[in-house]
Order: sequence, then C-alpha cells, then structure tokens
Amino acid sequence: MRRIPVTVLGATGVVGQRLVRRLSNHPLFEIAHLCASERSMGKRYGDACAWRLDGEAHAGRSETILLPCAPSKAFSPIVFSALDAEPARSIEPLFANAGALVFSNASAFRMDEDIPLLVPELNAGHLALIEAQRANRGWKGAIVCNPNCTTVVLLGALGPLHRAFGAEAASVVSMQALSGAGWPGVSSLDAMANVIPLIMGEERKVESEACKILGQLGQGRILDAPIAISAQCNRVPVVDGHLVAMNLRLSGSPALCDIETALSGFRPDTDGLALHSSPACFVRLRHEPDRPQPLRDVEAGGGMELQVGRLRECAIFGVKLVVLGHNTERGAAGASLLNAELALAKGYLP
Ligand SMILES: NC(=O)c1ccc[n+]([C@@H]2O[C@H](COP(=O)([O-])OP(=O)(O)OC[C@H]3O[C@@H](n4cnc5c(N)ncnc54)[C@H](OP(=O)(O)O)[C@@H]3O)[C@@H](O)[C@H]2O)c1
Repeated sequence: MRRIPVTVLGATGVVGQRLVRRLSNHPLFEIAHLCASERSMGKRYGDACAWRLDGEAHAGRSETILLPCAPSKAFSPIVFSALDAEPARSIEPLFANAGALVFSNASAFRMDEDIPLLVPELNAGHLALIEAQRANRGWKGAIVCNPNCTTVVLLGALGPLHRAFGAEAASVVSMQALSGAGWPGVSSLDAMANVIPLIMGEERKVESEACKILGQLGQGRILDAPIAISAQCNRVPVVDGHLVAMNLRLSGSPALCDIETALSGFRPDTDGLALHSSPACFVRLRHEPDRPQPLRDVEAGGGMELQVGRLRECAIFGVKLVVLGHNTERGAAGASLLNAELALAKGYLP
C-alpha cells in the first residue's frame, strides 16, 4: 500500500522529534514536509534541530530542508502539529481550511465545542464531531486534538472506572517530568533536587479536559461527564513520565476486588481495529508495592501503556491509586499518531 504523505509542524521541538522518529518507520504514513518557526526555516533539519533522542540522529532526516508552517508551502492531507499553543491558534486552521486533517498536540482548540478531544480507547465515537466542525467552520479538513499529557495519564484509571461504576469526584496530585516543559524547559538550577509546585494553566486543563473526554456526544456537541476533579500539578526532577496520585469517589462505593476486575478487564473502544500505535494493553494493573516508577516503567508498550499501582482503600474518597504514563509518547506524539490511525480506520482520510 502507498503510504500517505504527512507534514509535521514544530518538527524541531521535544514532541516534534518524537513524531519524526515514530513516523520514520510508520506503515501508513510517510513524512513529506517538516516545518518549524522562522528561526529554523530554510535550514537543514540536522542543523536546526538539536536532536535529543536515542537512535539514529534526526531519524535519517538531517538533510530535509525546514519549511514555513504554511499550507501553500507544506500541504499534506495529514498534518501533525507539535506547535506551541499560540502559533497553533493561527496556523492549524490554515491547514484545516486547505483540506488537511490536523492532529494537534497543542491546547489551542482542545476545549472548543466542535473539536474532538480524543483518547481513542475511551471516546473513539467523539471523532464524529468532525462533521459538526466542518459544518460550523466551512473547512474541508478538520482539527482533532489529543489531551494534555497529565489528563491522559489520570484517564488510565479514571476512564475505565467511570465506565464501570460512574465516577463522582477525584482529587489528583501530579508529579510531572521535565520533558513536559519542552526544550530547554526548566533551568537546571531550578529543577535539580527540587519540586516546583506550579505549572501554569495545567490544573485547569486537567480538570476540564477529562470531563469532556468522558462526556456523551449528542447534537454535535459533548455533554461533559459530571465529575468534580480537583488537580494540583508539580514539576519534579524526572526526565520522562508523569506520575499521578489520585483519590477517587465512585458511585456505589465498589469493593477493591471489583475495582481491580474493572481495570484488568477493561475493553477499549479500539479493540479489533489493530491500530499500529495501540499498546497491547491500554492500562496495566500492577501489584508490586512500589511500582509503577518513571525510571523503570515509563517505556512499557513503546511508551504507550498506562500503568496503575498502589490500589488501596481511602478513608475519605473510597479508593486511591497511582497512574504512570509517558508524557511525550502516550501524552503527545504517540497519541496524535493513534488519533490519525483511528481516523483512517473510520474512513475519515483519503
Ligand atoms: N512536552 C510534552 O510533554 C507535551 C505533552 C503534550 C502536549 N505538548 C504540547 O505540544 C506542543 C509542543 O510542545 P514541545 O514540548 O515539543 O515544545 P518545544 O520543544 O518548545 O517545541 C516547539 C516547536 O514549535 C515551533 N514553533 C515555536 N513558535 C513557532 C511559530 N511562531 N511558528 C512556527 N513554529 C513555531 C518550534 O520551532 P523552532 O525550533 O524553529 O523554534 C518548535 O519546533 C505544545 O503545544 C505543548 O503544549 C507537549
């Protein structure tokens, strides 16, 4: 089968590099264009991009000349955006208007009523919002978003448990990796041997995005799930992997053994679709007393697996646990590829 040409916007950044590496051996998609800011355009990818990943430098793309983020210069039917929110707000609509399906990592459009905000295992049906989006905005293409990297991690537990029992309230404390702040991110003097108890705008994103993703689609919009979520987000000296500690109140106060069964028996919406970037297991329940840990467990399933551990009773909420996920794979590059694979499987792509 001929592979579909794709464009990567923000190809030089932390997420962009992971997209380029994942796309370098993808069975369905093939890189046609790499784009970045005015600072980089016209340069070789190998010169403009300080490669930070293992494996072949620049994933064999060092000679590719970086283009401006403009559909007239770099159009493909599929576009992966790893732009910061501000440039994404003006650039992504240009590609959608020109007919591209844009799979975005940025926060710019996530909470717009007609934009699908996807975790394919939990809400694959929300992709149908593309129709409302095209009707509302007159675009031939569309924008599809993946959530904030902390949101998807907590959904590893909250998603299956909300589906099984109904969730009423969650108190969430995140310990977020440094790579979540992009490159160069937090200065070493601030990061080393320290915890920074502020990530601008993060708590509001976590609290609202999870309710949209677990909401019901109807009449061209999502009715948010009525879950009260309170988040406290912290930056910790970990390279990759966000760990979330969650206290959770579930309807009917189910027993721990039933919660275990719901997590280990969870059937994702993507079952049977054989999507290339799907992990074998959406969420793995771990029984060791001191796992999961970012250093040891973050690469599970190619960075796409979410891991729940330390499941136990909570005197206030009913149940408490921790969840781990890879912020730049499950929380970014791998997530937007999975969204594109879902769109292809559902017939939204040429
Ligand atoms: N890091 C994570 O864990 C994570 C997780 C989920 C979502 N995200 C989201 O993913 C996006 C990228 O994050 P990141 O961590 O990869 O950031 P980053 O390392 O700072 O990279 C930003 C990229 O955007 C490009 N860019 C910046 N301003 C631009 C402009 N005005 N026009 C065109 N291109 C521009 C940069 O190009 P130059 O190199 O030319 O400056 C670079 O390629 C953000 O929206 C972020 O919120 C990140």
